[in-house]
Amino acid sequence: MPLLRNGSVFPLWNTDRFGYRPGDMPIYSSIPFYLGVRDGIAHGILYDNPFRAEFDFSARMRSALSYMSEGGIDGGELRYYVIPGPGLDSTLARYTRLTGRTQLPPRWSLGYHQSRYSYFPDTTVENLAREFRRRDIPADVIHLDIHYMNGYRDFTFDPERFPQPKRLLDTLAAEGFKVVTIVDPGLKVDSAWSVYRDGLTRGAYITLPDGSPYVGIVWPGRSVFPDFSRASVRAWWGAQHQALIDVGVRGVWDDMNEPASFGGQTIPDIVQFEGDGHPGTHLEYHNQYGTLMARATFDGFHRLRPERRPFVITRAAYAGVQRYATVWTGDNNSTWDHLRISIPMILGLGLSGIPFAGSDIGGFNGSPGAELYSRWLQSATLVPFMRTHAMVGTPRREPWSYGPQYERANRATIRLRYQMMPALYTAYFQHTQKGSPVVRPVFWNALTDSAALGTDDEYILGDHLLVAPVVDSGATSRRVYLPAGHWYRVGSGEAYDGGRLVTVQAPDALNDGNDTTGLRGLPVFARAGAVIPSQAVVSYEGQRRLDTLSIDIYPGSATSELYEDAGDGYAYQRGEYRRTTFTTSGAPLLSMTLAQTGSYAGASSFKVTIHDVSRPQRTLVDGRPVRTDYDSARRELRFVMPGRARLLQIE
Ligand code: GLC
Repeated sequence: MPLLRNGSVFPLWNTDRFGYRPGDMPIYSSIPFYLGVRDGIAHGILYDNPFRAEFDFSARMRSALSYMSEGGIDGGELRYYVIPGPGLDSTLARYTRLTGRTQLPPRWSLGYHQSRYSYFPDTTVENLAREFRRRDIPADVIHLDIHYMNGYRDFTFDPERFPQPKRLLDTLAAEGFKVVTIVDPGLKVDSAWSVYRDGLTRGAYITLPDGSPYVGIVWPGRSVFPDFSRASVRAWWGAQHQALIDVGVRGVWDDMNEPASFGGQTIPDIVQFEGDGHPGTHLEYHNQYGTLMARATFDGFHRLRPERRPFVITRAAYAGVQRYATVWTGDNNSTWDHLRISIPMILGLGLSGIPFAGSDIGGFNGSPGAELYSRWLQSATLVPFMRTHAMVGTPRREPWSYGPQYERANRATIRLRYQMMPALYTAYFQHTQKGSPVVRPVFWNALTDSAALGTDDEYILGDHLLVAPVVDSGATSRRVYLPAGHWYRVGSGEAYDGGRLVTVQAPDALNDGNDTTGLRGLPVFARAGAVIPSQAVVSYEGQRRLDTLSIDIYPGSATSELYEDAGDGYAYQRGEYRRTTFTTSGAPLLSMTLAQTGSYAGASSFKVTIHDVSRPQRTLVDGRPVRTDYDSARRELRFVMPGRARLLQIE
């Protein structure tokens, strides 16, 4: 699934495809939007049509790009939007103005997530949480997969496996763990169960043409499916989450919402949806089903807990899903190929307006070896959604499952994510402003660079951090394409000229067991002129207030941002945020201005490291000299400056 779709046929029909192979299509999500680039100019096309459809990007006819759909809304009209560029940034800004953007997520959801199908009973979950803290590996979230439920009934807990869910979740919360539970759309046909009965009384389920609820087979056996095309059903569904919120559940993972139905992949085309004045068949509502379910969930959390930001994950997605949910790439495999394709898949989601995305680390289906798992963890370190997840029956897969040497490496990798949290969070903020993806392809601002256009196994976090994970078995180095400009390897400080391929060392834990930075095995580069914010490692987000942040300044001229707020809640919408714009100029000597808006206090000081700099005569902050340390071996200048400083000058 390369990012360049030229020459491929792309079907749009959300499909539950367990253990899909690279290139298999369709899979879980369908976004009828593509970006075209010609002569360095970008544009986007959105077909506003959810029916089963297909793109043909010059596969059957060389010079034709075609779109075909099995139906059209309002009687079959063709409705599409041509979105002008010229850049990917302006195209995405316009596309997301039309289809919506992701609001700032709760900051803890950017932490590390641990999942498997399934952790149970309660003591297993408690021990899991304890192991993270005992081993000093940061983590924020534990996921409960379907075995937590009572007979696969949504919104219930198994009375034997989880007899006291509230007590368990309170204990976990005291250790900083948030719990996310899976919820499937298929409701067990069980007249003794109030949720099923209630939905039946309300006529909440999708029906066969004779008006009887359609019954499919999913995990609970015979199941019915809510008609999420109706506002009243979405509100009813949203309200059911009270049962989860009451015991302390912090987020929900909407799965199987293509919708999947065993024995035929999905439900028959003739199934009826009411659609609030726009009735239609499954052919029309299928691709929207997951997004509408996520919307019901998101809105439900919002209504039930208005002071907190909802966190929802979905497997199936359609254009606009970004308003409601994070998307993960479904049931991938524990292979190197799948590690490699996870990068273009996440980039592709970002270029489709969906910034918050990730893959199951290690591959869902199978059992990764130590090297594959730790490489996958590295590749996900600066990806928006970072979660390990594994299939039922596979060996346990935690960061410490592969012995002390790999545990050290995996710890360093996860710690690196927590250090980079300010940069990650800032990239989410930028998405809210401009619709830009959190991670962007290397050709984001280099559309005339054919080598960049052909590179999709690297990504750029935010504006300035290029990440080139190792995706080959046995590799101890990797070739990295650096777009034009000047770059610095983060960690070592080595400088590189861009516009070319470079080969850099990237040993894995077996060859370099003592790296505590996480950066020797994971090549990360900062653009010249960049200001990269980072923080001290915490065990989980919000563990303690961090009054000092670090900023690394790489000589050159550029603009960088840092966004800070309370990390949850909505005070930021009333101005309680701090947005700092750093503008650097000049090399070898340097000056930097800081401009700030918002009323949030933010860090009161910055620990500054300026890289690749000669020993200066003077370092002035707001015109006054400051005490500095100069490391001549590393050519680094270090000092502390107030978080509200306005001007830095190196003379
Ligand atoms: C589906 C999901 C997977 C989950 C499993 C059991 O296969 O994609 O993530 O673990 O169902 O709920």
